Amino acid sequence: MAYQTLQVDIRERIMIITIHRPEKLNALNNTVMEELDLAVEEVLNRGDIGGAILTGSGEKAFVAGADIAGFQQLSPEEARALSIKGQALFASIEQAPKPFLAAVNGFALGGGCELAMACHLRLASTNARFGQPEINLGLIPGYGGTQRLPRLVGLTRALHMMLTAEMITAEQAKEYGLVLEVVPPEALLPKSLALMQKILAGPVHAIRHILHCTYLSTSASQDGYAAEAQAFSECFATADAREGIQAFMEKRKPHFQGK
Ligand code: COA
Repeated sequence: MAYQTLQVDIRERIMIITIHRPEKLNALNNTVMEELDLAVEEVLNRGDIGGAILTGSGEKAFVAGADIAGFQQLSPEEARALSIKGQALFASIEQAPKPFLAAVNGFALGGGCELAMACHLRLASTNARFGQPEINLGLIPGYGGTQRLPRLVGLTRALHMMLTAEMITAEQAKEYGLVLEVVPPEALLPKSLALMQKILAGPVHAIRHILHCTYLSTSASQDGYAAEAQAFSECFATADAREGIQAFMEKRKPHFQGK
């Protein structure tokens, strides 16, 4: 699939999706959003892809937010539609049965921070900066930020970030629990690939169940415990679980086959 605003590379079952509008710090305009939607669908539909890494083009930004230029003539009705569409795209990442990792290589502001938060895991380079500065525009986060930020960093820190628009450094983001690890810029992609490879070496059904049940743990409207019990039980119907348990008992490495 050819994209205009994304660069896509596949390495060892991992799709590396690079948002490529460096002259606008990779701001999310309609084309980027539409192409991200297609790229997520591609990750989900292709059997030869186990997961994805999202990152930004250039050395300065992951994504500096929704494209503010596109906000100029937006009516409240159009803004509602934009928010619902963006929420749906980011929810499709959060609810994906394959892992998505954000490799945050610079500014992750507004929609960029929200995109990173929709991914299952986040690594950051030392020059990464996170923030929800929409209040500076008289706005609020519209792509799920008000929901995911407090969940990830706690209410106090989330409110502080959203109400003051202050950016936090990569190290602060780690301290907040927003990112797993902070690495030098040149190590970001290799570390991200290594982490994804480690995850994808695992049993595919268990990965899918963990992603799904963990998502349910964040959704008050659904019974995550019941889903967990059901999925736990389903794991026991797989050859990989039998192999994993047996390998442990025999003190050897398991050989998972995705069955
Ligand atoms: N939407 C549209 N364009 C954006 C953008 C955004 N969210 N973020 C950056 N850009 C554009 C700038 O307008 C500029 O374009 P130009 O060269 O045509 O003037 C270009 O990207 C480079 O940005 P610039 O502001 O010159 O870089 P900087 O290093 O001085 O500042 C930021 C970097 C990230 C602090 C600053 O660009 C910024 O505050 N961006 C907006 C962040 C934001 O509010 N995001 C939430 C949106 S809801």
